[in-house]
Amino acid sequence: MDSTPVVIIGAGPAGLMLSHLLHLEGVESVVIEQQSREEVEKTVRAGILEQGTVKLMRRTGVGERLDREAEIDEGIEISIAGEAQRIDLHKYTGNIVAVYPQHEVLIDLIARRLADNGEIWFNTTVESIEGHDTDSPSVTYVKQDGTKATISAQYVVGADGSKSLARKIITGEGGQRLKHEYPYAWFGVMVNAPQTNRELIYATHPEGFALISTRTPDVQRYYVQCNPTDTVDMWPDERIWEELHKRVDSEKVTVSEGEITDKAVLRFRSAVTDPMQSGRLFIAGDAAHTVPPTGAKGLNLAMSDISILAPALARAVKKSDVKLLEDYTSLALPRIWRAQHFSYWMSSMLHSVPTGDASNDRFQTERRLAELKTVISTEAGRQLLAQQYVGYDLPEFEV
Ligand code: DHB
Repeated sequence: MDSTPVVIIGAGPAGLMLSHLLHLEGVESVVIEQQSREEVEKTVRAGILEQGTVKLMRRTGVGERLDREAEIDEGIEISIAGEAQRIDLHKYTGNIVAVYPQHEVLIDLIARRLADNGEIWFNTTVESIEGHDTDSPSVTYVKQDGTKATISAQYVVGADGSKSLARKIITGEGGQRLKHEYPYAWFGVMVNAPQTNRELIYATHPEGFALISTRTPDVQRYYVQCNPTDTVDMWPDERIWEELHKRVDSEKVTVSEGEITDKAVLRFRSAVTDPMQSGRLFIAGDAAHTVPPTGAKGLNLAMSDISILAPALARAVKKSDVKLLEDYTSLALPRIWRAQHFSYWMSSMLHSVPTGDASNDRFQTERRLAELKTVISTEAGRQLLAQQYVGYDLPEFEV
């Protein structure tokens, strides 16, 4: 195959959902993915789907297993030094979140694309993107056996993650990359253990943050705040259990222990690229923006980009109407900035940032906890948190 309407780089949530939505509009695409199918389907990522993402998956026929298997959460708990307050998400928003890990979404999208005879080229590395400022851009790629070839397209989309090649073209032409680094990180573990709690617990403590999440009745996902420079060998099992119990345990809850099957340090970064397009090249998802993990907005933001980009590309290919495509960045950015704010705000209320100056550290902790208590002890505060946690409906555009 040497040409297709849309070449999509990356088989993550953004790339796969884009190719699925384009197919539903009768527009074919090729997805080029560096990793193997197995790697894509196994990579451990976050696990919370906003109601808008759940509705999008249902509406487009990829929500069947989600409806069968996902845990539906109507609330979350915020715990301060062992004292928990439940935020009733459903009461404040009429909505819920689904606990359904990202790799499960990818498994469902890949299965559906292949059932629809979609083209996903795994183990294939994009070497360069050419001519995005002309009417016929192209992408040069290298297959697993080392052979090199070029595919031309009407449009190219970089859904190629935080190290995006496509983004480098846009920033290389003067596009802005606005960034923030945080002085903390998360140590994430996957554990074979029974559920600690029916709903997620976001816990803060003078020692730092911890998060209790879940995967299945027998597999749990926990995180503890750590230093950005920490490595996996600095966290033997005993240290993980000690910190989790210290930060989370209360009269009602004891963190359930079991065999730890995965350990990783998650960096905290915020970044937004503006613009998210140049000529016939577009970027979406992590290629365009990164959020810190608190609140699990990453995949959901990717889906919101795609809910604009998919109809925009379909109109352009089918009707030569490029108006929506021209507006892609300006339509996508407001929601991206709101998610940046929410992730930053939640992170800053829940994490401790010790400086070594005891008086200042105490001041910062007391101020931070006063903010958190103001939010979770008032109707207005709980409502604000709940609404942003479940997220806003995704935009829908006619093609
Ligand atoms: C998970 C990750 C998050 O960042 C979060 O806020 C909630 C849950 C998770 O991996 O389950």
